[in-house]
Amino acid sequence: MAVSTRGMKIGILTAGGDCPGINAAIRGVGKTAIAEYGMKVIGISSGFRGLIDKEFIELEETQLSGMLTLGGTILGTSRDKPFKNDPVTGVNMSKIIKKNYKEIGLDALVVIGGNGTQKTAAKLAAEGMNIIGLPKTIDNDVYGTDVTFGFDTAVSIATEAIDRLHSTANSHKRIMVIEVMGHHTGWISLYSGVAGGGDVILIPEIPYDMDIVARYLEKRVKNKKAYSIVVVAEGIEKPKGISAASFISQSIREKTGLETRETILGYVQRGGSPTAMDRILATRYGAHAVELIAEGKFGLMVCKDGETITSVPLEQVGGKLKLVPPEHSIIKKSRKMGICFGDRKV
Ligand code: F6P
Repeated sequence: MAVSTRGMKIGILTAGGDCPGINAAIRGVGKTAIAEYGMKVIGISSGFRGLIDKEFIELEETQLSGMLTLGGTILGTSRDKPFKNDPVTGVNMSKIIKKNYKEIGLDALVVIGGNGTQKTAAKLAAEGMNIIGLPKTIDNDVYGTDVTFGFDTAVSIATEAIDRLHSTANSHKRIMVIEVMGHHTGWISLYSGVAGGGDVILIPEIPYDMDIVARYLEKRVKNKKAYSIVVVAEGIEKPKGISAASFISQSIREKTGLETRETILGYVQRGGSPTAMDRILATRYGAHAVELIAEGKFGLMVCKDGETITSVPLEQVGGKLKLVPPEHSIIKKSRKMGICFGDRKV
């Protein structure tokens, strides 16, 4: 049932790892809330920490200009876990959040974050706060949505990096290993590996055998392939204390004697301006969040289902990981093209 929205106060916070597109989402929320519904928009600093310390600013229409293309989050972020006791005071921070939510006079709170943040959002909703979750992360590992904003940009950045490795690998006739982010999942590795023409793609969801990888690379040399590109997700199985890229390139050298170099792409995947697709997705998510609030619907995470922007109950998705299904159609087609995933002879 629609509620009267004029003068409603909605808070926005961004928590967890930052990613391109967050500011586009904030802009989508802000512009829709102000222009369409006459709401007030409160930007909360540094994720849940800002609610605990009551650090916030009112976002006016003018402040929302120039944000669409801006990387990072103008509000700042943190990885503070409100349902864990404060490391300094030992006090359970969720009670403070509930008290401050009321004292600031919020009618709703939009929580922009990954799966850990959505788990916290679900708990806050269960505590009776009017919460809407927006799924963001370069990892694309938030259960309950086809895709998170941040992912398309990270894949584009990683793909561009892989493209560049081809020329130097070819000049030196080398094996080039590149490690991409993705936390415990292989979405960035799979998509950028295929887009960047990777020969071997290793993801956490498919256990690999280094002997299979070694034999595959030796076979490429025998077939007069001048070089090979190996794309690995940071979360693959490996010994502690060594990066995935270092472990894989070391193993290749030991097992094949082939000249190998490694690159860890790291935080560039999280930086800079979002792609057009991420700007559109983030804008759609932000606008939809406000529509739900205007309809008096809460305890939901906005999501993409095919071409539709809709929502799903937070308690069904909060904290759940979306892993790459080993039978994913991209994997099946890649195998037929001779790409090696390290688990079977090619
Ligand atoms: O969740 C995004 C992400 O970049 C992961 O891919 C990565 O493993 C993690 O954040 C790094 O965390 P931090 O930014 O705390 O170093």
